[in-house]
Amino acid sequence: MTISAQSAQSAQAATLTQAADPAPSGVSPWWRSAVIYQVYIRSFADGDGDGLGDIAGLRAKLGYIAGLGVDAIWINPWYPSPMADAGYDVSDYRDVEPRFGTLQDAEALIREAHDLGLRVLLDIVPNHTSDQHPWFQAALAAGPGSRERDRYLFRAGRADDPALPPNDWLSVFGGPAWTQVTEPDGRLGEWYLHLFAPEQPDVNWNDPDVQADFEATLRFWFDRGVDGFRIDVANSLVKEAGLPDLGGRGYPERAEMVAEDWVEHPHWDRSEVHEIYRTWRRVADAYPEPRVFVAEAWVDSPERLARYVRNGELHTAFNFDFLRAPWDARALRATIDTTLAEHAAVGAPPTWVLSNHDVARHVSRYARPQTAPLRSLDDLIGLPADLETGARRARAAALLMLALPGGAYIYQGEELGLPEVEDLPAEVLADPTWERSGHTQRGRDGCRVPIPWEGDAPPFGFSMKGGDGAGAAPTWLPQPADWGRYTVQALDGDPESVLALYRAALRLRRDHPALGDGTLHWLPAPDGVLAFARDPGFVCVVNLSDNPIPLPDGTVMLASGPLTEGQRLPGDTAIWLGLAQG
Ligand code: GLC
Repeated sequence: MTISAQSAQSAQAATLTQAADPAPSGVSPWWRSAVIYQVYIRSFADGDGDGLGDIAGLRAKLGYIAGLGVDAIWINPWYPSPMADAGYDVSDYRDVEPRFGTLQDAEALIREAHDLGLRVLLDIVPNHTSDQHPWFQAALAAGPGSRERDRYLFRAGRADDPALPPNDWLSVFGGPAWTQVTEPDGRLGEWYLHLFAPEQPDVNWNDPDVQADFEATLRFWFDRGVDGFRIDVANSLVKEAGLPDLGGRGYPERAEMVAEDWVEHPHWDRSEVHEIYRTWRRVADAYPEPRVFVAEAWVDSPERLARYVRNGELHTAFNFDFLRAPWDARALRATIDTTLAEHAAVGAPPTWVLSNHDVARHVSRYARPQTAPLRSLDDLIGLPADLETGARRARAAALLMLALPGGAYIYQGEELGLPEVEDLPAEVLADPTWERSGHTQRGRDGCRVPIPWEGDAPPFGFSMKGGDGAGAAPTWLPQPADWGRYTVQALDGDPESVLALYRAALRLRRDHPALGDGTLHWLPAPDGVLAFARDPGFVCVVNLSDNPIPLPDGTVMLASGPLTEGQRLPGDTAIWLGLAQG
C-alpha cells in the first residue's frame, strides 16, 4: 500500500475539543504550542570557570538558544542547595545558589531572555526540601510532637518494633523511604519520610505553613517576571492518611494500564493532590500575563495524566509515555492516539518529550533493540548498541515530535545529537542512585555531562573563564575526549548536521500554520510507517521499517536524512511535505 496524502481531508480526524484555555482574544495562547528548551544549568555553560555551569554561562549563550527558534527555556533548580540531588534538595526557595550566581544575575537573565523573545520557566520542588532547610533543622531541634515537626512527616517506628521504620515505603533512589533521627536528648527517636534521598525530607502538605510558603515562592518568582514553573514530582505531594503499607503496590509505570485498573496508591498520584493545583492555578491567573505550569508526573495512564491538566488546574504536563515508547510504529501510534484523545477530553494541549536530565539520552536508547521498555542507562547496559542507527532514529524522532499537535521539550544537547555517556568512571558518579543502590545502579549522570561548545579537547568551551577557559577547574563530570565532533562549532556550518535539522524544523514550525496546537489526521500507510496530515497542507511521514517506501505527493520541506534514489523514504527517516492549497 502506498500513502495517500490526498485522502487526508477525508481521513478520520483525531478527536479535538475546543480549547478550554483560549486567550480572551480567541488566539491560541503561546504555551499551547510552545517548544521549550531545557537548560540543565550545572551542565550548560560555566561562566566563572569552577567546572559547574552557572547563570553567567547561560546568559552568554542565550543568543544561541534564541537562535534555535524555541519559545521558552525551563531552567532546572538554581536555588541554594547542598546538592545532595543536583539541586533538587532546596534549602532556600527564594534565592539563588551562590555557585550559580546571585538573585541580581537571575533577574538580569530573565530580562535578557525576554528581550530575546524567550519566556522563562523555573523548576519548583514542592514534595521535599533539603535537610539543611531552616524548617527541617528547626524540626530536628524541636523534637517529637512539636509544631515544627508537623511541617514534615515524622512518625514513631513500628508499634511492635520501634527500631523498624513506620511502614514499608521505598525511596526512589533505593533503600527504605525512612530515616531515624537522633533526638535532642541524644536518643534514637522518630523517623522521617523521604521518598527520594535522606537529604530530601518530604513536607506535609496538610500543614497550612507549607501551603502558604509555596504560594509565596510562586509569587516571589512571578513578581520577578518568571513566566511559569515546571513542578517537580507533581504527583507525590499528598500521602494517604495513616501512611499505610504499600503491600506490594509498585511504582506506577504501566503505560498499558487502562483507567478501570487504577487503584489509589498510598503516595503516588493521589486524587487529593489536584486541590493544590487548583489553588496554584488561581495564583498564576492573578497575573496580568497569566503564568503557566507544567507537571512532572510519572503516572499510570494517559487518563491519569490528563487529570493534571483539567480546566482550572495545570496548563500542561510532560507526556512520558511518548518518551518511554519504543521506536516502533504501532507503539508510537498507540501512544499518540491515546495522548491526543485524553488531552482533547479535557481541552488541554499535549506535550511531547524525548529526553531529559533523568533518562538515558534517546540516541542511545534508540541504538538498542527496541524489545523492552528502556528508560535509564541501567536499562541499556549489556544490550548491543548501534549508535549510528540510534542517531538516525533520533533525527527522525525529532521531526515526528515537532510535527505533533501541542507543545514539545528539547533537552540541551539533543540538538547536537549527544549520546549517553555510558562509561563515566565510578568515582565521579554523583547521582544519589549510585550510593543508595549499593553501587548496582549507575543512575542519571550519563545524560548530564557538560555541553561541548567548541574546540577539540575538554572542556570544549564549556568553561569560559577569561574567555578561553584557561585555568578553569575540570568540569564536574568529565566529557569524553572525542566530543569535538558534537560541538556547536563543529556542527554550525554543516547543513546536514542534526543542529541544522533542529533549526530548520523549528523555523518551519513557527512559520507553518498547520503546526503547533491543533489536530492531526492519520493517513493510510504500510506496516511500520506513521503518516499523518495536519491542516492546512502539511504531511509528516516517518518510516520506522527497514524498507524504503514511496513518498506521497507534496513538496519536500524537510527530511531527517537523505532519500534513496527515486525519491523513496529510507528506514528510520522522517519527512515533512507541503501540499498545495487549492
Ligand atoms: C524529579 C527530578 C529528579 C529529582 C527528583 C527528586 O524526578 O526530575 O531529577 O531527582 O525529582 O526531586
